[in-house]
Amino acid sequence: MAAPVLEARTISKRFPGALALDRVDLQVHAGEVLALVGENGAGKSTLVKILAGEEFPDSGQVFMDGSSVRMDSVPTATGLGVILIHQELNLSDNLDVTANIFLGREPHRFGILNHRRLEQAARPILERIGLDCASSTKVARLSMGQRQLVEIARALAARSRVLIMDEPTSSLSQGETRNLFRTVRELRAEGVAVIYISHRLGEVKELADRVLVLRDGANAGELAKEEIDHDRMVRLMVGRDISSYYGQVPDQRGPVRLEVRNLRTRNHPGHRLDLEVGAGEIVGLAGLLGSGRSALLGALFGTDPALGGSVRIDGAPARISNPIEGIRNGIALVPEDRKQQGLILRMGVEENISLASLRHHRLRGGFINRLLHRRQTARMITRLGIRTPGAETATEHLSGGNQQKVVLAKWLSLKPKVLLLDEPTRGIDVGSKQEIYHLIEALSEEGTAILFASSEMEEILRLSRRVVVMREGRISGELSRGELTEEAVGRLATSAEEAA
Ligand SMILES: Nc1ncnc2c1ncn2[C@@H]1O[C@H](COP(=O)(O)OP(=O)(O)OP(=O)(O)O)[C@@H](O)[C@H]1O
Ligand SMILES: [Mg+2]
Repeated sequence: MAAPVLEARTISKRFPGALALDRVDLQVHAGEVLALVGENGAGKSTLVKILAGEEFPDSGQVFMDGSSVRMDSVPTATGLGVILIHQELNLSDNLDVTANIFLGREPHRFGILNHRRLEQAARPILERIGLDCASSTKVARLSMGQRQLVEIARALAARSRVLIMDEPTSSLSQGETRNLFRTVRELRAEGVAVIYISHRLGEVKELADRVLVLRDGANAGELAKEEIDHDRMVRLMVGRDISSYYGQVPDQRGPVRLEVRNLRTRNHPGHRLDLEVGAGEIVGLAGLLGSGRSALLGALFGTDPALGGSVRIDGAPARISNPIEGIRNGIALVPEDRKQQGLILRMGVEENISLASLRHHRLRGGFINRLLHRRQTARMITRLGIRTPGAETATEHLSGGNQQKVVLAKWLSLKPKVLLLDEPTRGIDVGSKQEIYHLIEALSEEGTAILFASSEMEEILRLSRRVVVMREGRISGELSRGELTEEAVGRLATSAEEAA
C-alpha cells in the first residue's frame, strides 16, 4: 500500500488544566474517508487543528507522503493541500460569498484579482454543493446551514489533497447533507483524502471507509469498513455500553401554557401562526432549513420580535419585544447560534450557567444565593458531563460540545415556564444526548411547556409528544405521537415541492 498522504505520529498537546492529546497516531490515505469520532472533549478538534497548522503539538510529528513536514502555519498547510473546515465557522460576515470563498488565497494564482472573474469561478462550485443564493450575498445574511456550505465551497476552491471537516453537517438540512455526501464521495473518487468528524454515527456508518476513535485524548481503537456499527463505535468512545433508552413516553398535557395567535414573524410577514403548547408537553418543531422555525422561536423569546399577533402565557397576555421581557414572562430560549447569543466566551463556566438565573432572580426582586448557584452549577457539570478543568475556566477554552452543554445548563437550571430550544443537541456526543433528553423530560414533568426545533429526525422521533411541521413560513401540519413517523414528517415538510 502507498504511504499515507497524511500521517500524525505520537502527537501530544497540553493545555492549562487539560492534556488534550496523549501520543495520538493517525493515518489517512488518498481516496479514503476516515471518520474521527469521540466524546465531547476527546481531542478531535485539537488534533485536526494541529494537522492544519493552527495549533502546534508539544511533541510528535506530521508526515506527508512519508516525509516529515512542519505544519507551522495555516498557509503552510494550505500550500501542502491540507484544508480544515471548522466546527465553529470562520467566515467574514461583512464580505460576500465570493470573497469568502477566495479569502486569503494568493491573488497571483488567479491573475488579476477581479471580482467578476472570481464570481465566475465561484459559480460552478456553488452549483456543485447546491448553495442556492447569489454569490454577491453578504455572509451575514445567510443561515447557519448556508454558511457551512460557503466554508465547504472555500475548501473545494482550494483543491485540497486532504480535506478535513469538523462536524460539517451539524447545521445542514437533510437535502444539504445529501448534497455534501455526494460531494465528499466525488472528492474521494478523485483521490482526495477526507477526515470527517461527526457525532452523528449514522452518517459515519454511511460515509466512512474507516473509523478512528479517540478517548480522553488517546487512541481508543479503529474500525475497518465492515466493522463499523453504532454500538461498536460507542463502546470504543465511552469504554462501556450505553443503552439508548427509548422509555415509555408519558403523554401528559396539562392546561395550555403557551398560546400563540396570528403571530407574524419578520422572515415571513405574510403568514400568521397559531400554536399551543400545554404544561408538561414536549412539542417538536420540524421542517426544512429556512422553513421559519428559528424565526418563530426568536419571535416568542424576543430576540427577533414579532410583527403582530398575540402570545399568552398561562392565559395572561405577554408583550415580548426583547429577551428581557421574554425572561420576565418565564420564557427561555437556547438559540441556534450559540457563539453569538448563548455564551459569554471570556466568562467562566459557572458564571455563564448562573447568568440567566441571576438575572431572573434580580428581576423578581429575590435575593441571590451564591452558594445555591455553586451547588447547582456543580450538579449540572456532573450531570451533563461538562469536561472542564474547573467551574471558573473561561468557556472559550472548552471544546465545542462542552460549550453547548454550558448553554443548555444555563437555561435548564432556570426552570422556565416555557422552554424553547433550537437544535438542542447540535455537536453533542451520543452519551450526553441521552442525559440532555432526560433533563428536558424532567423539566416537562415539572410542568414546563417545551417547544424544540430540530433537524435531526431521530431527535424529533425520540423526544416529541407531538410534532408541528413548518414549511415556507407556515405551519403545514401537526402529528400526534401515534401518527409520528419519519415519512409523515417528511411529507409535511416538503409536499409543496412535490406538488410543484
Ligand atoms: N485553547 C484551549 N485552551 C485550553 N484548553 C483547550 C483549548 N482547546 C481545547 N482545549 C481542551 O482540550 C480538550 C480537547 O478539546 P477538543 O476541542 O479537541 O475536543 P473535541 O473532541 O473536538 O470535542 P467536541 O466534540 O466537543 O468538539 C478539552 O478538554 C478542551 O477543554
Ligand atoms: Mg470539536
